[in-house]
Amino acid sequence: MEFTEEKIGFIGGGNMARAIGETLMQKGIFKPKNVWVSAKTEKTLAYWKNLGANTTFNNGEIFDNCDIVFLAVKPQYLEEAIMTTVTQFFFTGTVISVIVGVTIEKLEKLLMNTLRLGSFPNFSVFRTMPNTPLFVGEGITVYSASKDNSCKETKDIVEQIFSKIGMIEEVDESLIDSIGALSGSGPAYAYQMIEALADGGVKKGIPRALAMKLAAQVFVGAGKMVLETGKHPGQLKDEVCSPGGSTIAGIHAMELGGVRASLINAVEAAANRSKELGS
Ligand SMILES: NC(=O)c1ccc[n+]([C@@H]2O[C@H](COP(=O)([O-])OP(=O)(O)OC[C@H]3O[C@@H](n4cnc5c(N)ncnc54)[C@H](OP(=O)(O)O)[C@@H]3O)[C@@H](O)[C@H]2O)c1
Repeated sequence: MEFTEEKIGFIGGGNMARAIGETLMQKGIFKPKNVWVSAKTEKTLAYWKNLGANTTFNNGEIFDNCDIVFLAVKPQYLEEAIMTTVTQFFFTGTVISVIVGVTIEKLEKLLMNTLRLGSFPNFSVFRTMPNTPLFVGEGITVYSASKDNSCKETKDIVEQIFSKIGMIEEVDESLIDSIGALSGSGPAYAYQMIEALADGGVKKGIPRALAMKLAAQVFVGAGKMVLETGKHPGQLKDEVCSPGGSTIAGIHAMELGGVRASLINAVEAAANRSKELGS
């Protein structure tokens, strides 16, 4: 699918809007003249204006001008953002939320109560969980559609957009909070691990810049090994641990530090927090 004429808009022009919108523009998927962004501050709008996008403080203009509208504000600002939106026309396009913890049911109620929306199935609401590696074309996004609007054509729009900047999977909405805690927050956990791995190298005399490059590429390579070989990570680990060798000594040290338990706890804590934020 080519998006030659479609107009894409973002309510909220922060990190996630940039990860999606800016990357789509950089890759030439959407022309800047077909991208609209609203935000709270002049600084954010100036950033987008500089990229050639259309900008506005008026969220209604986004709905009035765009076929595909992303909701990309923090969860606590969603109600304010939608309640203060005044549109001129009936909206019959696709709404894609990236907001953590806010259900499709809540989104639909909010949108139908406040906007001049076309009735089902004339507009569609999708809930997604992207992550910031979209910036470098290596994101992974999951999405859910409400049962009423899961028509193939609108699903294709969501899949086509996200597949141009990473991987995309449809999931049951009940899994989205947990997935956010894994792949949405996961880059932050990985950055911590990359930094710590590099610190270990620096402690053993490796220059900082080289240590960082080595550590980051280890994560890129290990991730690709899991995805491309289809082997279980436990098997891949076994394949690099020779008996009595140095790597198994390193693995033992990690086990003593509780790295695996920490990661399991991290996903659980983030999932619980995102439920709190959405309610
Ligand atoms: N960051 C991630 O890794 C990640 C991953 C998955 C999902 N998400 C979700 O993505 C959403 C956005 O996160 P983010 O990191 O992009 O946040 P962010 O950088 O703080 O961006 C939020 C944007 O919303 C704008 N905004 C606030 N109130 C508004 C209003 N009433 N009308 C229009 N725009 C308004 C802000 O404008 P100003 O810039 O002018 O203040 C800002 O541009 C969140 O709901 C988060 O849960 C984020």
